[in-house]
Amino acid sequence: MVGAESKPQELSTVSKVAQERVLLAPGEVNRALGGGLVPGSVVLMAGEPGIGKSTLLLQLANSMASGEKRVIYVTGEESVHQIKLRSDRLGVQGEGIYVLPETNVDEVMAQLESCQPSLVVVDSIQTLYAEEAGSTPGSVAQVKACTLRLMQWAKASSVPVWLAGHMTKDGSLAGPRVLEHMVDVVLYLEGENLNSYRILRSAKNRFGSIDEVGIFQMTADGLQEVPDPSKILISERNEGAVGSAVVPILEGSRPLLVEVQALTSPSILPVPRRIANGVDYNRLLMLSAVLTKRAGLNLSNQDIIINVAGGLRIKDPASDLTVALAIASSLRNSPLVPGLVGLGEVGLSGELRRVPQLQRRLNEASRLGFHRCLLPDSARDEPVEVDGTKVIYVTTISQALRQCLSTKKSSSPAGLEDNDTDQQP
Ligand code: TYD
Ligand code: MG
Repeated sequence: MVGAESKPQELSTVSKVAQERVLLAPGEVNRALGGGLVPGSVVLMAGEPGIGKSTLLLQLANSMASGEKRVIYVTGEESVHQIKLRSDRLGVQGEGIYVLPETNVDEVMAQLESCQPSLVVVDSIQTLYAEEAGSTPGSVAQVKACTLRLMQWAKASSVPVWLAGHMTKDGSLAGPRVLEHMVDVVLYLEGENLNSYRILRSAKNRFGSIDEVGIFQMTADGLQEVPDPSKILISERNEGAVGSAVVPILEGSRPLLVEVQALTSPSILPVPRRIANGVDYNRLLMLSAVLTKRAGLNLSNQDIIINVAGGLRIKDPASDLTVALAIASSLRNSPLVPGLVGLGEVGLSGELRRVPQLQRRLNEASRLGFHRCLLPDSARDEPVEVDGTKVIYVTTISQALRQCLSTKKSSSPAGLEDNDTDQQP
């Protein structure tokens, strides 16, 4: 902590302190934290309501608590009995976990002083209030004031504090966003729908990189680690299905194979619909426009629905090419060539651009039996070597379509430069 007597010290003379980290369970959390929990750190875990924050917090509390290690679980949202019900469901006995139903931050601080816990969990930060801050609980001033008190305590006592914070889909709700610059670590718990995968993504970490993500599945026993996410994510895919394409995306530093599905169908609306589940809506509009204008696919009278299997949300632009391939496959009613992955960002003139970390992505694809890869021509100067994988270089999106849509329904190779006759009036 910065004190009144602190003097500048030459960096080279500062001695290194080995930062001991506490390991929690499920272990994927340690990965997202960059190798475990640092004593005295304040971690904010933000996510939409119902995503599983309280579930994960109770699991974490359970992994830390023991006879001599106490965990204080401050709850401002749920009663002690509700937490008991959850702990029963999770099979958590609760030794060493002390539940404190309290919203007044002064009372919380007093309890922390007297209990000397090894970990403090606050669920959620929006429910706490500090009398000196005026306004209502959950307001920016209140959330800041309460976090500051907890931060000071965490630093002084070297005890880690986990805060849960609610956030709406656009992250606009007063609260977590304004805290990002105060706390040491910010994690987002994300997932598209119920019963699907959850990603714990690090957005800020003062003690490590933000490259790592934790991947979980919500089960009847709470959030469970997924040992081989790629394998599970593509396990239900039918090879040869129309409108289905696979891409090795990067989640943090981890390559992950995901299936993108597209469905095009003639629209009855004057303005056809575009539905993007798991991909960015504007990106979908852009890709449809490029396919129409640069690859001769008439999508202007087609509804387009995109779905990413497993409820994942793809942010990696490397998936552009795959989304475009899936749309074209559905429109042509023709499957992609088997064992294919595509990697490339699509530009407005239909050109394909290279994406980073090709080797790691292709290793992952090859491990799961995808031995053909479509890459932008510009990626030639970064040669990738994967045993048994055939790399096909293409310059534009229409070249890509010609290479990988099977031609059985059309006379010319894939016939994409011609107007499609299958589904268009
Ligand atoms: P919860 O952790 O309360 O979410 P949050 O604190 O982010 O609002 O739980 C979210 C959902 O998870 C809830 O609707 C029920 C479901 N759930 C399970 O599927 N399995 C479980 O073991 C538990 C405890 C909850
Ligand atoms: Mg909750």
